[in-house]
Amino acid sequence: MTKITAAITAIGGFVPEYRLTNKELETLVDTNDEWIRTRTGVEERRILKGEGLATSDMAAPAVLDLCKKRGISPEEIDCIICATVTPDMFFPATANIISDKIGAINAFSFDIAAACSGFLFALTTGTSLVESGRYKKVVVVGADKMSSIVDYSDRATCIIFGDGAGAVLLEPNQEGNGVMDSILRSDGSGKNYLHMKAGGSAKPASIETVMAKEHYIYQEGQAVFKFAVKGMADVSYELLQRNNLTGEDIAWLVPHQANLRIIDATANRMGLPKEKVMINIQKYGNTTAATIPLCLWDWENQLKKGDNIVLAAFGGGFTWGATLIKWAYNSVE
Ligand code: UT7
Repeated sequence: MTKITAAITAIGGFVPEYRLTNKELETLVDTNDEWIRTRTGVEERRILKGEGLATSDMAAPAVLDLCKKRGISPEEIDCIICATVTPDMFFPATANIISDKIGAINAFSFDIAAACSGFLFALTTGTSLVESGRYKKVVVVGADKMSSIVDYSDRATCIIFGDGAGAVLLEPNQEGNGVMDSILRSDGSGKNYLHMKAGGSAKPASIETVMAKEHYIYQEGQAVFKFAVKGMADVSYELLQRNNLTGEDIAWLVPHQANLRIIDATANRMGLPKEKVMINIQKYGNTTAATIPLCLWDWENQLKKGDNIVLAAFGGGFTWGATLIKWAYNSVE
């Protein structure tokens, strides 16, 4: 019996309309366009504005986008996995809310919290569901409304993050294409460098936690930067080695968009020229779980059947990983 592989067969995306530019940030904190561009690569980021609008309000249109492209009804979806650190609510899972919003009445759904590596962790989980032979249509969506946990008076973090959602459909593939391999890692001791201090069971929300601004992202940027450069580059290189590939065999690197300098370090380690690296950090910033699917969404028309593609991420936890995909279709658009 031939092994069932899980292939991405459609991509959807959604970014809010509002563009928060570096110029506007200059009016909020002591920063400047030049510093932000050279230290991070970000020029603008999208922000979800509107009372009551949440992560699911970006994820739902992203999933509907891929349903439309693939010509399927949400009722055909077997499972929805949402990677996010900014869920609509503590519970129920945002994936449950997405299912309800789009009418995916036959799907079971759950969230995965692995910060910026969330999409890769969810993709590997979804892949296993399809490879089991039991599920035929699994949606993996990475979505984050980072603006809901960013302190816009903290120049060290507010310049980086943005809002957005990207989604892929996984289906069984008979030609041996799809997700080929993954290396995923986590190290919980990294929590000290990147976390949200309050609001969880360790320190429930109180007037004091709100006054102390403990419901925002806390990041020790330089420490995270060092771990990220090493983690993302090492794991991507290891993935190539164990699949007997070199940079020349790779059509595209799809890196998490946290900082242009981290992306460059990973590409260099893999021996990849810049032309083979997807970069859209300048227009969306760091959308956490959404960066990788939003790159795929932006580049979909350039992907060709048989292309070897490496996805790589590093994020809070710490969590990190890399995934090798043999692309399964030529875009018809
Ligand atoms: O996606 C999840 C994982 N997260 C990451 O991968 C993020 C990793 N970290 C980073 O990307 C970078 O560390 C940051 C972009 C967050 C910061 O860049 P950096 O080059 O590490 O800056 P730094 O924190 O070392 O600060 C350098 C200088 C400092 O001034 P002094 O002490 O040298 O006078 C900062 O106060 O830049 C100053 N600075 C700023 N200046 C203007 C820090 N933030 C800003 C700012 N505008 N926004």
